[in-house]
Amino acid sequence: MKLLIAGATGLIGKALVAECREAGIEVHYLTTQKEKIEEKEGCRGFFWNPKKGILDAEALEGVSAIINLAGASITKRWTSRYKKVLLQSRIETARALHQALQQNRHQVLHYISASGISIYPSSLVQLYHENETAISEHFLGAVVVQWEAAADAFEGLGIKVTKVRTGIVLSKDDGALPKMLKPIKMGLGAALGTGEQWQSWIHISDIAGIYLHLLQHQLEGVFNAVSPNPVTNKKMTLLLAQQYQKNIWLPNIPKWFLRLILGEMADIALESQLVASEKLLDAGYRFHFVNLENALEDLLG
Ligand SMILES: NC(=O)c1ccc[n+]([C@@H]2O[C@H](COP(=O)([O-])OP(=O)(O)OC[C@H]3O[C@@H](n4cnc5c(N)ncnc54)[C@H](OP(=O)(O)O)[C@@H]3O)[C@@H](O)[C@H]2O)c1
Repeated sequence: MKLLIAGATGLIGKALVAECREAGIEVHYLTTQKEKIEEKEGCRGFFWNPKKGILDAEALEGVSAIINLAGASITKRWTSRYKKVLLQSRIETARALHQALQQNRHQVLHYISASGISIYPSSLVQLYHENETAISEHFLGAVVVQWEAAADAFEGLGIKVTKVRTGIVLSKDDGALPKMLKPIKMGLGAALGTGEQWQSWIHISDIAGIYLHLLQHQLEGVFNAVSPNPVTNKKMTLLLAQQYQKNIWLPNIPKWFLRLILGEMADIALESQLVASEKLLDAGYRFHFVNLENALEDLLG
């Protein structure tokens, strides 16, 4: 089997490429950075410029599925200019791939797109399944709606579409975890806002495993990609501190202060999404890390 991955050089992409290689799946990948193009056994990179619709048709040769992970990082300050980049980078990448499939002979049967649980409205009590119809009114909610619509367009090409609503990915290399750990390691950790907000997390090896499972079983539709045991921000903070034998002695960091230093991006830390992963379990996926304690022990222990 040969797979094309866009955004393969990022946090999830690197773990996924490694999983694919282990499973004997050949990988082509698209990168916007020429210096990231490499050719290793079973893994070949191609340059693309999604904004201009530039994509080397050779990248599609022999490919039966596409996984699109590409998109500008949500952890840079959300100026109005950058908000456009956040949205456009996701729409343009899907469009460029769609256009390439329309314009070239190909054997692609399955399109799998990254998506986010931030589509769900912030709630301390609601448990979100994939069939939820309420949509967050915040910026990221609107981004996810348009991102998923861009993925759905592949159905018009007769291709199966899967959308992976991803929770907070925990990895020691990058993403949320090193950022959460910084103050804690200095003994300055504190819960954020009320600390009651739900954080639906997923271990890096599970998010890579989930993409592989969806691919290998050709599962289509929306899937929440979160561990079966979300925690509150307060519990997450305490468990992280425990890993470094630190106490949480500071009061919670108030919402207004987070908004002052992070601007609208503070939503990422303050919103509450309690998300269910039964659909994945029913689809036969077996999590490596079900509890946060075990996940942190693996990543940091
Ligand atoms: N990590 C999480 O906690 C999390 C949670 C929910 C959803 N997601 C979503 O899952 C996807 C993968 O996440 P990740 O953590 O692996 O992200 P990441 O580390 O930021 O990697 C994303 C990749 O997208 C490409 N990219 C960046 N800016 C781009 C732009 N303007 N246009 C086109 N491509 C661009 C880059 O690849 P090149 O430099 O090679 O082009 C980059 O390696 C993202 O769409 C993210 O929003 C992640």
